[in-house]
Amino acid sequence: MLKLVVLVSGGGTNLQAVIDGIESGKIRNARIAEVISNNSNAYALERARNHGIDCRCISPKDYETREAFNQAFLETINQIAPDLIVLAGFLVVIPPDMIKRYRNRIINIHPSLIPSFCGTGYYGLKVHEAALARGVKVVGATVHFVDEGTDTGPIILQKAVAVEKGDTPEILQRRVMEQAEWQILPQAIDLIAAGRVSVKNGIVEVSEKKIHDIDYTIT
Ligand code: GAR
Repeated sequence: MLKLVVLVSGGGTNLQAVIDGIESGKIRNARIAEVISNNSNAYALERARNHGIDCRCISPKDYETREAFNQAFLETINQIAPDLIVLAGFLVVIPPDMIKRYRNRIINIHPSLIPSFCGTGYYGLKVHEAALARGVKVVGATVHFVDEGTDTGPIILQKAVAVEKGDTPEILQRRVMEQAEWQILPQAIDLIAAGRVSVKNGIVEVSEKKIHDIDYTIT
């Protein structure tokens, strides 16, 4: 069974989609070992507690240097020893050593069709503000593996969503969540837990049948 750690910073609706996916059987063969937030007030932590899932807060603010935080953060993750780390609206930069250690074992949900509206400065509502300002007619969401860049890792799943007349950033954000994010994040975890996801030369292949056991990340 795939052991997950979910990292969150805010409301946690994507975490909720993962919890619901596991409880409803949409995500098979996976369990959440722990939810970690950098923000002790994140409602996402409440969602974890409501479902009896262990959770804790670890924040850069509580460390003298970024290096000290990065080291403590990596040690925390190593102690839990997850098979997969899920970034579900996590707004802290992942330490380079963690990316190296968990290569193709960290996934992120981003609220746009990468490579549009992604990279430094594009997160949360800002993504939808930028999409409306540019006048695009189709937006969406992407689940990707995390590499050293910002939103540059191998793409696992994407789903498109139409922009509609009268959309505000908030309305568009909600539609992208409902129609794309809450669908493809659980789906990606289910595919990985089923051993159907592999990465070759930076490109993700999703196979019809199981191709790996635990070591799904062979490149
Ligand atoms: C989601 O829309 C997620 O895609 C986005 O933050 C929101 C978190 O909402 N993530 C990013 O922008 C990462 N670059 P949630 O806490 O309700 O899941």
